[in-house]
Amino acid sequence: MLRPLLPRCARALRASAATPRLSYTLPTFSSQVTRRAYSIHPEAASTAQPVDVDPSKLVIQKTQDPKPLVDPSGLLFGRNFTGNLFPDPPPTKNPTEGWRAPTIQPYQNLSLDPATCVFHYGFECFEGMKAYKDKAGKVRLFRPDKNMERFNKSAARIALPTFSSPALIELISRFATLEERFIPDQRGYSLYLRPTMIGTQKTLGVTPPGSALLFVIASPVGPYYPTGFKAVSLEATDYAVRAWPGGVGDKKLGANYAPCVLPQLEAASRGFQQNLWLFGPEQYVTEVGTMNLFVAIKDKETGQKELVTAPLDGTILEGVTRDSILSLAREKLVPEGWLVSERKITMPELAEASAEGRLIEVFGAGTAAIVSPVRTISWKGQPVDCGLKEHEESGKIALRMKGWIEARQYGDEEHEWSYVC
Ligand SMILES: Cc1ncc(COP(=O)(O)O)c(C=O)c1O
Repeated sequence: MLRPLLPRCARALRASAATPRLSYTLPTFSSQVTRRAYSIHPEAASTAQPVDVDPSKLVIQKTQDPKPLVDPSGLLFGRNFTGNLFPDPPPTKNPTEGWRAPTIQPYQNLSLDPATCVFHYGFECFEGMKAYKDKAGKVRLFRPDKNMERFNKSAARIALPTFSSPALIELISRFATLEERFIPDQRGYSLYLRPTMIGTQKTLGVTPPGSALLFVIASPVGPYYPTGFKAVSLEATDYAVRAWPGGVGDKKLGANYAPCVLPQLEAASRGFQQNLWLFGPEQYVTEVGTMNLFVAIKDKETGQKELVTAPLDGTILEGVTRDSILSLAREKLVPEGWLVSERKITMPELAEASAEGRLIEVFGAGTAAIVSPVRTISWKGQPVDCGLKEHEESGKIALRMKGWIEARQYGDEEHEWSYVC
């Protein structure tokens, strides 16, 4: 599945020279922050008319050597892969070809020239999504349109080709169905899908890649908390930043992840499971490792209960779980009297609420765990208690959110978020 980029990029560059597409507004450091576009508009690097991938051309060459299934209790995240890989075309540089016919082939190594641009300049972006099996044995995806939207934005930002989201969803759905025997039909199990796109042009020139490869691999995964929730402790990182206004922190680029591992190791060396990224002199709370962060807090003056998460200002990933939690909170918590806010919240605000007993609960949110309750945040070497009692491993909101989201993921509740393959 390959698409030549040069003519398209030349057009895009000419267009962007005529009309500057960088869109910045100055940060306003108030708590009422409106949505701002910090990143380069995707159109600056891609055509308005993506060349479609074509599911009707799918060729399936199934593996002749089916892999044995791993005992579900022994599944570790990202260690086991299914028997096939989708798609796996040979790279081409034919500038008139566009996306090639997709194929599903046996899982195998890729062969790339050492000068391929992905190895030198990080032309890589990816997605993380899951396929679930419902009670009737049907395979379901959860909000795949959101993943495809984000994938296209990430690809466009690094001058890789975009594609038709419905077409790729259809192909991923065919792939997940083909691999359905790898999805254990127990609650908590799923097939993690990793759509990935890389620039494949052989060149050391820093230019838009002339060719690209889109592939999807799949890995069966078990429940994140096999024996029930286990609250984590975080270390607030203020000596390094993950993302910044005008940067690419809202894109799912491989290049965003490698630099985060060292601060994570630092936090681990002091006994913390993850690090929490702070930003700026105000110490805004942004996100955790591979999760967005939610804080349930009571207002100092009015006692109003509020569920807060950082706004989409370009410095955090636009999490599908984050969006789902916000939507569920508006649907189910607002009628109970909660305020739901996408606003900036600082570490001093959080620490003050904790000290005054107003911090109700804190949890991370992402595809891997759905929610991950937080017990403490170490900030400037001092623990900030996040509201859980000693015997509790999760707050009520996190627990309810997990239940509501799983019901839609596993098809217990028929909902438009669930895509039946
Ligand atoms: C940096 C980062 N933030 C947040 C998330 C959560 O996003 P999602 O809910 O789409 O999994 C992820 C997920 O991979 C991530 O890598």
